[in-house]
Amino acid sequence: MQGKMLHLKTALSILLCSACLLLDLNQASAQPVIQAGKLTSFTRNVDGVSIATEHAHVALTVFSPGVIRVRMDKKALGPDFSYAVIGKPGETDFQLTELEDKLLLKTAALQVQIQKRPFSVRFETPDGMLINQDEAGLSNAWIGDEVSSYKSLQEGERFIGLGEKTGNLDRRGSAYTNWNTDAFRYTGDTDPLYASIPFYIGIHHGLSYGIFFDNSYQTDFNFGASNRRFSSFSAQGGELNYYFIFQPSVTDIISAYTDLTGRMPLPPLWSLGYQQNRWSYYPEAEVMRIANTLREKKIPADGITLDIHYMDGYRVFSWDKQAFPNPRAMTDKLAALGFKTTVIVDPGIKIDPGYATYARGLQQNVYLRYADGTPYSGEVWPGWVYFPDFTRPATRAWWQAEVASYVKQGVAGIWNDMNEISTWGQKMPNNILFDYDGHLTTHKQGRNVYALEMARASHEGMKLATGERPFTLSRSGYAGLQRYAAIWTGDNTADEDHMLLGVRLLNSLGLSGMPFTGMDIGGFTGTPTPGLYARWMQIGAFTPYFRNHAASDSRSSEPWTYGEGVLNISRNYINLRYRLMPYLYSSFYQASTSGLPVMRSLAIDYTHDEQVYSRHYQNQYMFGDAFLIAPFTSNKEFGRLYLPQGDWYDLYSDKLEHGKQAKALELQLERLPVYVKAGSIVPMQSLVQSTAQQPEDTLFIHVYHGQQGNSISYYEDDGKTYAYQNGDYYKRQISFIPQRKEIQFDAVDGKYVSKFRKLQILLHGFHDINNVELNGKPLPVQVHTVGFLGKGYKDLNLPAVTIANSAEKITLRY
Ligand code: NOJ
Repeated sequence: MQGKMLHLKTALSILLCSACLLLDLNQASAQPVIQAGKLTSFTRNVDGVSIATEHAHVALTVFSPGVIRVRMDKKALGPDFSYAVIGKPGETDFQLTELEDKLLLKTAALQVQIQKRPFSVRFETPDGMLINQDEAGLSNAWIGDEVSSYKSLQEGERFIGLGEKTGNLDRRGSAYTNWNTDAFRYTGDTDPLYASIPFYIGIHHGLSYGIFFDNSYQTDFNFGASNRRFSSFSAQGGELNYYFIFQPSVTDIISAYTDLTGRMPLPPLWSLGYQQNRWSYYPEAEVMRIANTLREKKIPADGITLDIHYMDGYRVFSWDKQAFPNPRAMTDKLAALGFKTTVIVDPGIKIDPGYATYARGLQQNVYLRYADGTPYSGEVWPGWVYFPDFTRPATRAWWQAEVASYVKQGVAGIWNDMNEISTWGQKMPNNILFDYDGHLTTHKQGRNVYALEMARASHEGMKLATGERPFTLSRSGYAGLQRYAAIWTGDNTADEDHMLLGVRLLNSLGLSGMPFTGMDIGGFTGTPTPGLYARWMQIGAFTPYFRNHAASDSRSSEPWTYGEGVLNISRNYINLRYRLMPYLYSSFYQASTSGLPVMRSLAIDYTHDEQVYSRHYQNQYMFGDAFLIAPFTSNKEFGRLYLPQGDWYDLYSDKLEHGKQAKALELQLERLPVYVKAGSIVPMQSLVQSTAQQPEDTLFIHVYHGQQGNSISYYEDDGKTYAYQNGDYYKRQISFIPQRKEIQFDAVDGKYVSKFRKLQILLHGFHDINNVELNGKPLPVQVHTVGFLGKGYKDLNLPAVTIANSAEKITLRY
């Protein structure tokens, strides 16, 4: 009897409880804003903790001591899938302690306080300094399917990064949307642009942290825009899924972010050379005229790029037979002149049964479809087209095979355009289905990763077909694009401010894991003044992807079109870039191993110096470890420059300036202000007309004296294959050690034989150098004359020593 009563009681309480739950859920769903609510239970797992709250399911995963992933959803967490993240949680020690009002999760680098009532997270340093916390009242919340995380705004907090975003370096006070868009003729505050990288860095009280919000729906970020209470990130659907990254420096944050999303593989050396481009060079005779003129006028260049007119009626993978009767013969002729050919590809496949690519696509069912199974057709260059579903593995395989046809025609680079997806600036319907690698979804979740997967298919197609390192360029993308492609900033305008906006876009992309970036040098739409063109070419020489481009209705924009003066300036800076190739290639190597960009906002190295965020100085950047570039517009006679902490040499005169001060500069069009950080080591080579040409056999090592020591990784390999992955590289640490008055070359690491048999060490700012010893033996010091620009510019007479490039350790004492 008693037993029966007990059963009855239990049944009653279950019934009552479910009624409570129902009531609760109904109440919750009646609320316009639903928060996670109180923590109801938790379980410790091998790599973190799973939590249930009144209205949410949460998982915190410890990826490493400084990286914690937070996942949250109203329903049970679904399958874990990401296009961006390739990193896995490492085995990391952490402690989880339950206290009355919270859980405490501690790693060696972080403590996370997980408040129970209501649920919220707070990230602190091990000694209790606040890094970042959920805003107490707003916390994490849903409005329908839209999910947001609100974080308390800290006093003086700055925000940098977020990929390809217009506006200022410090994004405080602004809000942004990620929704890949063909932003033709964008201006200084247009948003969104082409690519989405939902990763930013917050800075306050001497600390910095990163937040990567891995959600490919439309995402929105608010950095205290029209509110003084919070910064926030939201998505139109899917989970709240973010990685909190805490590291001692911005450099380490970028490195941790690229541990998660991958790094740029080393590109082929030729892609670091100057690229000549126009919409469009055709027919073949025009392409050859451009190539020959570059050589005749001694303008070093490595690439010619073909825009959409090479195709037959804009059909991708086809050639206009009249304009290009024999593509292979043309690319061979270009190759003989030292040029690589890059071709544009668009995702829209013309609906034309007589077009083999289209037909194969239809047969292999590669196109995006509506829910009723019919393919989606949109309108773009070729007229009505179908779009391949690049989020489907079989579609990527089909594309890879199509791309291989270019290899037979001697094409070396693939330029992925219009892949936002662009349908003549029209909105695409949201009811189109995307395979999303087996996690069927709609345009709402698929759009932002479409370009990433197209770039992936192009990259892998070229890699498979050649077995060599491909060059792939993409206009649009998502976090992780660096694994497959370089990016350029789309259709900019020939205007002074646009040039500086471009610099900020590239700097911001660099902060967001993308080291290989470029902008249309000279401006895509409109016609630059000769001065603007010259200044843009100078800045372009100090950007990672250096390509001149102009729209079909602009005047042609080759370096010789603006007169002899502009040609000289352009040539001087292209020459300088080619002489800096060993430095540049080593910087790319560094980017491929650490994620540190080649073009670096000053916020990377001088994060807590407020001057670097000032509107006057926010465009200044480092190009590699050594050069500070001050990109002024061409129409200014005077400029204000800020040199951060340390000592700096004027590149052209070697004049030493002390840092942590602003300076007024008299500007000249012939010279872009460039400074070299004291202590820098800059490897250079003799001038070549393309990277296909062997430089002379001396590697010039410029060492700039300073109080602080420095060390670089000098790197060489064959510049095209993957042999370096099997030890076929030449790497050596070169150090300047002022305390010991030494310059040291460590023994060479790797099997590759250097291009250079001799080393010439050129000493800047080393006064009264009479004696240098090589491995303990005296060595004659000579004077060498060096100029960084062409004839007619001041040359420097530098003490220098020349030695054999032996593979053993070399110590020079001065
Ligand atoms: C748009 C691209 O942004 C531009 O660079 C290209 O020249 C045109 N499409 C034509 O292909």
